[in-house]
Amino acid sequence: MPTLVIVGGQWGDEAKGKLVDYLAPKADFVVRFSGGNNAGHTVIVDGEEFRFHLLPAGILHPNVTAVLGSGMVVCPKSFLDELDSTQAGGRRIGKPLVSGSAHVVLPYHRMLDQYEEEARGADRIGTTSRGIGPAYQDKAGRFGIRVSELVDKSRFRERLRGVLDYKNRMLEALGGEALDFESVHSEYAAYAARIQPFVGDAESAVFEAVSEGKKVLFEGAQGTFLDLDSGTYPYVTSSHPVAAGACLGTGIGPRAIDRVLGVCKAYTTRVGAGPFPTELHDDVGEWIRNHGKEFGTTTGRGRRCGWLDLPLLRRSAQLNSLSGWAVTRLDVLAGFEKVQVCTGYRLEGQRTEQMPQDTVALSQAEPVYEELEGWQGDLRAARKLQDLPSPARRYLDRLEEFTETPAAMISVGPDRGETIVVREDLLL
Ligand code: GDP
Ligand code: IMO
Ligand code: MG
Repeated sequence: MPTLVIVGGQWGDEAKGKLVDYLAPKADFVVRFSGGNNAGHTVIVDGEEFRFHLLPAGILHPNVTAVLGSGMVVCPKSFLDELDSTQAGGRRIGKPLVSGSAHVVLPYHRMLDQYEEEARGADRIGTTSRGIGPAYQDKAGRFGIRVSELVDKSRFRERLRGVLDYKNRMLEALGGEALDFESVHSEYAAYAARIQPFVGDAESAVFEAVSEGKKVLFEGAQGTFLDLDSGTYPYVTSSHPVAAGACLGTGIGPRAIDRVLGVCKAYTTRVGAGPFPTELHDDVGEWIRNHGKEFGTTTGRGRRCGWLDLPLLRRSAQLNSLSGWAVTRLDVLAGFEKVQVCTGYRLEGQRTEQMPQDTVALSQAEPVYEELEGWQGDLRAARKLQDLPSPARRYLDRLEEFTETPAAMISVGPDRGETIVVREDLLL
């Protein structure tokens, strides 16, 4: 089957990058559809580490067309820096194609991101400070500057003039300094000149690829519960990381999607604020963070860690119409005598198996755990299910049973090769 969407099933950093890279050799197109350089997707090949923020992680494969879709917000400097570093030493990479309909992240977006966080005070979201929220606000507010406008010299000057006058009034009212038009213009005009050859009608290119039966891999960013509508609002990002976002952010319709792979860790993590019922504030949480090196790829922040939350994963399977799971970091949990999995919550004295959709209710939900036998040893050499210790296999069985979704892949280490394919038929 030719099209597969990969989505984060939790709160981001599930190892989408690793799996995209693993599957990309089979793909003709790898397409990012949401977010911007708030994402940090790690790929490790023979010990060499690549961190992608804007470029699709599949770009390491030279035969791939790597699309930045219309649903994205693009920081031109970040794009160019990443392109340079990925090509360093003459490395051959895929062909980048940036949608002219994607929006540009400008300096005032980053400044406003900071001011908005300060204004939220104790309710701050803990954003990545990349200007993502303000850039999407401008898109929805019809103030945004699209990539196609950035690369059109006279149009860009005209658009920036109009928008910057308004943004400068906002910045000054908030106690900041106005930005100088000429310096912003000259900096971004220089980026535009370099980006121009990569800009095109990505929507038509993706549509044609799908129509011709080419293999198209859609690379989700962030995670299901950071989705603007389906996530733990307001502790979310400003785009649509769920599978439906692959339609909105690339210009295809739902019937063009054949399969959806949800990526989830064998436990749960979250960066930034917001409800997290299974979060561990004890030595176990600390152990997972240190042992799993749970520090953000984009901001370096320590990730909040906790046990696996099965009702949350079931909700994720529903929201994304998952065909299967890729369960990652199973190796990290090795070493516990017993592990806990959340199978429900206690909320206002009642027991429920449903993840509450309301953010306040979710923050009050107390997890109800089921104890399972832990597993020991180094899992990183496992290449088939039978190589895994039987308690680890039972853990996966429980996940599949509760979420009513099969495990299609298992990841047992960060390297490309440290992967088990269980259900080839559910992949690309
Ligand atoms: P993404 O944002 O979903 O692409 O995930 P990140 O790259 O932000 O974080 C995932 C981290 O886990 C990276 O450092 C990966 O190298 C690492 N990783 C991926 N899969 C595994 C795995 O199965 N086991 C271990 N120990 N690390 C993994
Ligand atoms: P990848 O693609 C984890 C979180 C931020 C913050 C919230 C809003 O690597 O999985 P934003 O800057 O988007 O306005 O921040 O969303 N966040 C992520 N958390 N992984 C990500 O991306 C994230 N992108 C945004 O920490 O809580
Ligand atoms: Mg990440």
